Amino acid sequence: MIPVRMELDGSESLFEVSRGERLVDTLRSRAGLVSIKQGCAQGRCGACTVLLNDQPVAACLVLTLQVDGQRVDTLEGLHARGLLRDLQEALIEGGAVACGHCTPGMLLAAHAVLMRFSRPSLKQIREGLEGNNCRCGCKGRIVAAVRKAALRRASQGRLNPPRGVKVVKDGY
Ligand code: FES
Ligand code: FES
Repeated sequence: MIPVRMELDGSESLFEVSRGERLVDTLRSRAGLVSIKQGCAQGRCGACTVLLNDQPVAACLVLTLQVDGQRVDTLEGLHARGLLRDLQEALIEGGAVACGHCTPGMLLAAHAVLMRFSRPSLKQIREGLEGNNCRCGCKGRIVAAVRKAALRRASQGRLNPPRGVKVVKDGY
């Protein structure tokens, strides 16, 4: 077994993993972060999305060894810090939460978009959510809800720049 240290949801965490263990399994099975779903296991659905140094990645395609020394954020951690509340509210208001399976990954990808753009266009949101599939036909409503949350944040001056990423002031 190999020791892997990561900053997981703001706390230093240590896991002893085998060489081939995937990040999705470490986080779900060892850390109990069950918002991370196992879907296609091929990097195509986005259900297993986590943020790796603020970038959305498919945890089913990442080996846990690869994140040694890196920062990983999950829905549980961002939710506990209250960073997703307005996005969650906008999704509910917009009738954009139909299944619950894709929603955690969508929220993380949307959070990453809002960290990059203070006023993202619909196109920028669509591109940011490209790796997250919605098979029930809600994607348009999800994109609209993310934009609504973004505009609310911007109007309240509540920008959330991540470490190391330059915030674009106007995404139009
Ligand atoms: S389970 Fe990882 S992208 Fe589908
Ligand atoms: S809302 Fe989850 S698949 Fe459409």
